[in-house]
Amino acid sequence: MSQHLPPHFSGVTSMSLDFVSVDDFSHNRFQYIEDPFPFYAQMREHRPAHLSESIFGGTWLMFRYADCAGLMKDERLSNARSAVPLRFLPPEQREEFADMLDVYSRWLAFHDGAEHTRNRRQANRSYVPFTDEYLEPRIQGLVDGLLDRVDPKGFDLIGEFAFPLPAMVIADVLGVPVERHADLNRWTDDIAHLFGSTSVTVDHLRRTRESTRQLADFLASEENARLSRAEGGLLHQLREARVRGHRFSERDVVAQAALLLFAGVASIRYLIGNCVHALADVPVSERNLLLRPETVGPAVEELLRLCTPVSFVGRIAGEAFEYTASDGTVIPLAKGQPLLLYVASANRDPEVFDRPDELVLDRPLPNRHLTFGIGRHLCFGDPLVRQTTRIALSSLYRRWPELRVPPQEANWNNNLGFHGFTSLQVTGGD
Ligand code: HEM
Repeated sequence: MSQHLPPHFSGVTSMSLDFVSVDDFSHNRFQYIEDPFPFYAQMREHRPAHLSESIFGGTWLMFRYADCAGLMKDERLSNARSAVPLRFLPPEQREEFADMLDVYSRWLAFHDGAEHTRNRRQANRSYVPFTDEYLEPRIQGLVDGLLDRVDPKGFDLIGEFAFPLPAMVIADVLGVPVERHADLNRWTDDIAHLFGSTSVTVDHLRRTRESTRQLADFLASEENARLSRAEGGLLHQLREARVRGHRFSERDVVAQAALLLFAGVASIRYLIGNCVHALADVPVSERNLLLRPETVGPAVEELLRLCTPVSFVGRIAGEAFEYTASDGTVIPLAKGQPLLLYVASANRDPEVFDRPDELVLDRPLPNRHLTFGIGRHLCFGDPLVRQTTRIALSSLYRRWPELRVPPQEANWNNNLGFHGFTSLQVTGGD
């Protein structure tokens, strides 16, 4: 998908709602992908809770911070939503994808209540060895290795850096070969397209089924089990961790490892590109906030707020109930009905943030963005994302303080759910 770059994730608020037809809204339409922020602004103001008849056969779309944050914590909503993207298929045809759904339905992200708590504790226990101190030199080494290889006169930030890096980082944490980053990107890309899109085809489902099978085989292989054991990697830790005598089954281990790869690779790779794009017009003196230990923290939080690649969080109604939205609209929810909570819109809600569309690198903490969600399902990987983003950006701008994004055709991922570029030419200097 190639088009001219839009005016930097602008967030124009003066357009009328006629600018878009709400009923056309889809995660796979270029019109929304290129610059969704005017649309979000209009929806926050005029239609903060909107029933889309076309998305998954009837889905409530929520755009304000108060509704998104409240509903993410609402225990009447459920996360057992692994089969939502297959709703367009007749039940007899869903059978074909049973093995793929078996993997997703084991993901800790898709459980509720006590079962979720148990799985999450188990995953937390497995992650104990991966402290910031342990990860810092490893991530820095991977970043430096990639940046040493680019031509500073001009390179594709995404293809040569932002895409390989997260796959390498998470492979390294798992204790599996980092050289397989291209395969990991391909497999997780298919899964991301399934969960980020609002319309998928049977062909795509078949491809995703094959990618999921290859990813699961990779994670289940004896060779990778041996490598991870030798490294003390997370794949091995997931097998070993016991919480109150409970262990993950072998199929659960493979499923949780696949979740961590999907959730991490599909998001960080776009985040880095979005950040560099947003920083393109920022004066060097301000960008230097990323280089100082005392200012880098707030600067990264602000980039996470404005540049999140994860546009929404999904839920389904766990029971039938009425929800009163922040504008007073009463929403009748049927059991099983899907909702999409737009965190990328909530992050720019003027009710919560001053100058919501501006990148304010010294915005005071706490920066209450919803980029990692809120409540019991808060992102498992948030420390790894913060650390990887900090190291990636500070290393880029330390090497090339004048790093520029020249005018160019932009290639967007064809999926607003994972929002970002699939290539971005940059110049480090002469
Ligand atoms: C830019 C990077 C990332 C963003 C924006 C992001 C965003 C999110 C969000 C919004 C949620 C909450 C979903 C919900 O409420 O249902 C979530 C959950 C999760 N994330 Fe991330 N994520 C990122 C990277 C990662 C990484 C690197 C990992 C793992 C290494 C990861 C693993 C997970 C897992 C396992 C969950 C489910 C947690 C649960 O349900 O208890 N994420 N993420």
